[in-house]
Amino acid sequence: ISLKAYNTFGIDVKARYFVEITGLVQLQKVLELKSYPKKFIISGGSNMLLTKDIDALVIHINLKGITLVEENENEVEIKVMAGENWHGLVQWTLEKGYGGLENLSLIPGNTGTAPIQNIGAYGVELKDVFVSCTAMEIKTGELISFDNEACKFGYRDSIFKNEAKDQHIITSVHLKLTKKDHVLHTGYGAIEAELKTNGIVYPTIRDVSDAVIAIRQSKLPDPAVLGNSGSFFKNPVISKKAFEKFIKKHPDAPHYEVGEEEFKIPAGWLIEQAGFKGKRFDDAGVHEKQALVLVNYGNATGTDILNLSQRIQKEVAQKFNIKIQPEVNIIK
Ligand code: EPU
Repeated sequence: ISLKAYNTFGIDVKARYFVEITGLVQLQKVLELKSYPKKFIISGGSNMLLTKDIDALVIHINLKGITLVEENENEVEIKVMAGENWHGLVQWTLEKGYGGLENLSLIPGNTGTAPIQNIGAYGVELKDVFVSCTAMEIKTGELISFDNEACKFGYRDSIFKNEAKDQHIITSVHLKLTKKDHVLHTGYGAIEAELKTNGIVYPTIRDVSDAVIAIRQSKLPDPAVLGNSGSFFKNPVISKKAFEKFIKKHPDAPHYEVGEEEFKIPAGWLIEQAGFKGKRFDDAGVHEKQALVLVNYGNATGTDILNLSQRIQKEVAQKFNIKIQPEVNIIK
């Protein structure tokens, strides 16, 4: 079966075998199947670049459900099954009046994959609302809980990209949200500007979400229309020493201080300066409104996208002496 519909890049590779999972017992049974030694997990498919056919049993996680775990006057804890669409969840929380996810509106993908790269946008990261997740160990079928600390969250990073890589299937996520006295994060320039344009002085969580949606829609391609995986690269973090050299040569470069000794430079700026913004090479391209996003105009292969990404990495390194690294999980 083709996996084109199961990855947001819209890459047309085939799975040797395929099974859709809708229950935990079913998942345990499938993991026990000895006749399929190789297994490959796919959920929302929003953060992967597939470069070849998958010669394995592809397990599509489609566990659904949102339940209330605990609530008091001020806060609520919810349990969200891994296959719930992320933006669908954000909308559900807004309807209930729960605060915390509004800045993370319109991020493609499913809830179960959100912890893997600690999704983030406009000053908020998943880790800010994350309580724990439950994961099934692939080897044993056992369910294990990882609390916030155990996940070792970092910038687009967690234990699931490092020591625990490819060992677990996240089955559900627990989040803590606010019911009142929401602390809004509207400091991000683009959000402030969007609220101001709409004449909003005292924003609600819905207003913040609407602002984020408007900003994202103006810059980021909709995967349903144009295949992509969001930011293809992480924003590089460089030492203070390297930064001082860099900024002397490029005084106009946007930058943010990270701690006291490091600086983050937007990869989108570096890629744009290297001349790639809006460029298209057959069906692989660099988005015209946000150079950090690589796009599939229809029939690009994973290798086409990968080659383009490597060319960008090389030219950015030559021009700026800065290495940019993929954020997307490349399946080779
Ligand atoms: N910029 C350019 N040219 C471009 C793109 C950006 O010069 O083509 C400059 C902008 O002018 C701005 C700076 O780079 O000065 C930052 O741009 P922006 O605010 O659009 O954010 P970003 O750093 O490009 C990051 C995340 C996004 C997230 C936004 C908002 C990463 C890798 N990306 O992008 O996350 O939505 O901030 O918080 O950290 C994603 O991970 O898939 C994603 C979209």
